[in-house]
Amino acid sequence: MRRGAVIQLAVFAIIAAAICTVVALAIPWLPMSASKEATRIHFVYWFTTVIAIGVFSVVASAIAYSVWKFRARPDDDSDGPPIHGHTKLEIWWTAIPAVLVTAISIVSAIVLAQNSHAGSNPLKVGVLARQFAWEFTYPNGQKLGYLEIPINRHVQLDITSTDVIHSFWVPQFSQKQDAVPGAHNKIVITPTRLGTYPVICTELCGLGHSLMRSYAKVVSPTEFASFMKNAGKPVKQSPGEAAFDHFGCNSCHTLSAANATGTIGPDLDKLKQYAAQAHRGTLEAFIKESIVNPGVYIQPGYQDQMPHTFGQQIPASQLTQLVQYLAQNAK
Ligand code: CUA
Repeated sequence: MRRGAVIQLAVFAIIAAAICTVVALAIPWLPMSASKEATRIHFVYWFTTVIAIGVFSVVASAIAYSVWKFRARPDDDSDGPPIHGHTKLEIWWTAIPAVLVTAISIVSAIVLAQNSHAGSNPLKVGVLARQFAWEFTYPNGQKLGYLEIPINRHVQLDITSTDVIHSFWVPQFSQKQDAVPGAHNKIVITPTRLGTYPVICTELCGLGHSLMRSYAKVVSPTEFASFMKNAGKPVKQSPGEAAFDHFGCNSCHTLSAANATGTIGPDLDKLKQYAAQAHRGTLEAFIKESIVNPGVYIQPGYQDQMPHTFGQQIPASQLTQLVQYLAQNAK
């Protein structure tokens, strides 16, 4: 074989390896870890990746070498030598992958067990998903539209849904958990880094899915203690506004009185104008019907995408307060 060809092959291999190495090192493949659980999950990820890189390198090198070493020479029309397997080699290439796969299983099982351990005094927070908003309930009964948790303490989330299947995800916590109606799925998060991280719904749940977002705020223990103290105090909100927030109306609708800027559903600042177009009784009757029976009249320019479940979800007294609140703030 021409030495030139060998050198060319070697140069090509070195350049390809250099490019791959640079790309591999330059890209931050995983989100920054903000919890103990995420750090353990990242360890499993890299443990598996390093093994995969090792196996790939050995296999690719063996193939490249064989292609070069055992290629057909010009004018060589003969058959190859008859070979009949290689028992020793076969034992090795069965045993080594078996050991590697077993190692990955053991490491994964240990991490799964550690990650589900909630310690003796976890902070328990209820997570309720609905089309298209998140609601977080604290042990003192306080409900919030975002998650506030103290650093370095086990936080156990009890995740469920009122309507369809959603999925709770904070990339920096590296765990995803489905929110399923009627089921209570739990995950443990032990935050290790102060900051604010996005809460994302990662299960296609309807037209508002991409907007079903909130945030998780990791604070110091002192800040969390004062947050919990103030959290018990009543918020200065009218009952109607509280219902508006509680049922997640703001995730789809605009209403300047509530600082809501959603654009999936009709603009509630324009309710009077809509009611005049719709000819469906008084303003209050129109609003009530639109909440309880949203499919009956669809505002032109919008689709029938409001959940049809609010009629059962919203208690009668709260419904009246919500209707009054919307009627008062309509323009
Ligand atoms: Cu909720 Cu997607």
